[in-house]
Amino acid sequence: MGKTSKDKRDIYYRRAKEEGWRARSAFKLLQIDHECHIFDGVNKAVDLCAAPGSWSQVLSRKLNENYKKALEVGEATPPKIVAVDLQAMAPLEGVIQIQGDITNTVTAKRIIAHFDNTQADLVVCDGAPDVTGLHDMDIYIQSQLLLAALNITTHILRPGGTFVAKIFRAKDVSLLYSQLKIFFPYVYCAKPSSSRNSSIEAFVVCKDYSPPEGYEPHMLNPLLTHEPCNFEKLTGVNRIVVPFVVCGDLNQPDSDTCYPLDFEGKEYTYHEPVQSPIAPPYEEALALLEDSSTDFRKAGVSVVIDSDRPMSLSEFKEQARRKQKCVNDKKDEDDEKQETSNEDNKDLSNILPLDALHDLNITDESSSHENK
Ligand SMILES: C[S@@+](CC[C@H](N)C(=O)[O-])C[C@H]1O[C@@H](n2cnc3c(N)ncnc32)[C@H](O)[C@@H]1O
Repeated sequence: MGKTSKDKRDIYYRRAKEEGWRARSAFKLLQIDHECHIFDGVNKAVDLCAAPGSWSQVLSRKLNENYKKALEVGEATPPKIVAVDLQAMAPLEGVIQIQGDITNTVTAKRIIAHFDNTQADLVVCDGAPDVTGLHDMDIYIQSQLLLAALNITTHILRPGGTFVAKIFRAKDVSLLYSQLKIFFPYVYCAKPSSSRNSSIEAFVVCKDYSPPEGYEPHMLNPLLTHEPCNFEKLTGVNRIVVPFVVCGDLNQPDSDTCYPLDFEGKEYTYHEPVQSPIAPPYEEALALLEDSSTDFRKAGVSVVIDSDRPMSLSEFKEQARRKQKCVNDKKDEDDEKQETSNEDNKDLSNILPLDALHDLNITDESSSHENK
């Protein structure tokens, strides 16, 4: 039951596994291409924030198609794809991988080094921060990723090239649009139908790279300012309304709808995820759980929270309950999750989150926070 619940809930997740994509995000890039033709004539591309690699898979497929077409009419050079992410990524044939932070100058230099004397036709960035839940903070980090991606792009993209990046349509997004318009005459905001309507996520599609005359790319980030900015003062070219394009025709499934497993006359078969995480963050906690001689679930075992800030047991329980919910989501155990959320007052041993274990010291009841 739990195994198929995500398949029921998310048709793009299901289809990704059926079609061999590492993530449902592949459909976003394919739908953007369907509307905006971003792969036309592309031979060299960079995939920023690429893990687990479904966009790289799409790039690999599309660039190889271009290569084959080019070979039919004459000579052609094999495609070049460079993929970068903070996380390690399982290898993909024909994709050069770099593990690093795109906001870091060293990583940017490593990417640029791969394009020594050559230039990319396309740079894509699907970068997303680990969501903190602090809305403004998440939006800010997202915009920093986009600006870091743009900064790297100014070093490697050929004039006329295309840049596609995830953007959060939030307050002040027009400032980002204005910055992009400095470098690209055509800036669109694309919303693929595989991207949930409930999400503020969209993608900027920037075409025909034309840096301002005399612009020299450098590794300082000239686009960021810590000065307070009054957006009302932005007028003319500085305040730009970007066209909004919905990608994917009306026949495409709606990403916010639950579809039956047997769908469109096709009998449902369960598929394992195409590429399991190679170093998931919960691995350490699982190992801890297996190795530890301590029985975390034993009655009377309590915890001291290893934290700079004293935390009450009820606060800890609340935090643990939220983490447990995330773990449950990951494992697709909807039924179990429902049960857990109904059991607010259950013994702490039942709501101990796996990924919090390494933050905990086990002690006896007398020294626990509960007794303080
Ligand atoms: C939504 S996932 C990308 C999915 C990918 N496009 C695919 O199709 O498989 C976002 C990725 O951004 C990466 N990321 C976030 N911040 C980053 C940074 N500063 N530098 C490099 N990668 C980053 C994360 O590690 C994560 O793998």
